[in-house]
Amino acid sequence: MSNPFSFGGVVKEKKFCNRTGELKELKQDILNNQNVLIYAPRRFGKTSLVLKTVDELKEEYKDFRFVYIDLMTITDKREFINKYFNAIAKSLETPFDKTIEALKSFLRLKPIIKASISDTGNMVFSLDFSRNESDNVLDDILNMPMKYGEKYKVCIVFDEFQEIENIEGLENKLRSVIQNHSNVSYIFLGSKKSIINAMFSDTKRPFYKSVKHLTLSPISYEDWKRCITKAFKETSKMINEDIIEDILKITKGFPYYTQQLCYEIWELTEKEVDENIFNMALNRLLKQEREYFIAIWDNLTQNQKKALKIVLTTNGDNIYGDERAIGILKPSSLQTAIKKLIEKDILDKKDRYYFQDPLFEYWLRKEIV
Ligand SMILES: Nc1ncnc2c1ncn2[C@@H]1O[C@H](COP(=O)(O)OP(=O)(O)OP(=O)(O)O)[C@@H](O)[C@H]1O
Ligand SMILES: [Mg+2]
Repeated sequence: MSNPFSFGGVVKEKKFCNRTGELKELKQDILNNQNVLIYAPRRFGKTSLVLKTVDELKEEYKDFRFVYIDLMTITDKREFINKYFNAIAKSLETPFDKTIEALKSFLRLKPIIKASISDTGNMVFSLDFSRNESDNVLDDILNMPMKYGEKYKVCIVFDEFQEIENIEGLENKLRSVIQNHSNVSYIFLGSKKSIINAMFSDTKRPFYKSVKHLTLSPISYEDWKRCITKAFKETSKMINEDIIEDILKITKGFPYYTQQLCYEIWELTEKEVDENIFNMALNRLLKQEREYFIAIWDNLTQNQKKALKIVLTTNGDNIYGDERAIGILKPSSLQTAIKKLIEKDILDKKDRYYFQDPLFEYWLRKEIV
């Protein structure tokens, strides 16, 4: 029997736990052609949520089409143009000749369309154009969804949207074009809070107040309890509530780590989970993440390391007034360090400062403090 838990990739079907509220809201937004920003920390479930939502919409509406493009690895304009063009072509889900025909009808300039077979055996569509044509081609490509939207119900997903900053001129251009696309829904996913905040909340930036913000909360303990118990039961193993509580105390419901820890526990369990198995699984998890955590730690300045220690000892509460903090770092240095740690997406603040990554916090408490 295969492990009912998984981590790293997109989760679907049975492995997808809850998020029913967000799913319903996002579906309605897409149907309303609303543009939406979903920010959440890395490995929090953004991509899984959006892909599940569009999969359901595809089932429900035969004329629904979605275009998915991940900006993470794209480094320049030409690459963006071709990846976006290919993503649009693929989303059509029509036979080859029909795809070419449709693509031509969406374009104004009639550039040369190329089709080739990738190493993995997939058809890849791209455009042939010279360097001085690239601005016009970009304009044409960015406008394709509007034409596309006249025939289908279209949703465009830009994953890791903050990376658009690194492609010269694209942020301005994209905003100026898509504001006229009232028949299309654009979904922007982002995982770097300070960059995303600057992009959407800074009055000088093109995307200022241009989208609805959809908040992704952690999956609640109750939902996790239900999902975890069910997954063990369906694979003829048992887990009791106390152990699930222990899991959630460590992961704080953070989706990736909850799946990762459950995955290891399931692997080690023959019939029923006990404390011993839980501890062994936790050690496996910490071993897997150790190098990554060390790399984060090594990348910090001395003051930033001190500031993290202060957040740990004070639990992030009243850090500037705490006696213990003053002994370690001057308030002004602490303030500078905290600001940097927030920019680096290590800390965040609600009513107190907290670690974005619950396992990194756990590891620091165990190894460093
Ligand atoms: N709804 C969910 N139910 C159960 N597990 C989930 C859910 N969403 C995410 N996960 C877990 O979290 C992991 C990361 O999910 P996903 O890749 O969707 O997150 P992300 O926010 O897009 O991450 P990144 O910022 O790295 O792109 C998944 O591999 C899975 O283990
Ligand atoms: Mg993702």
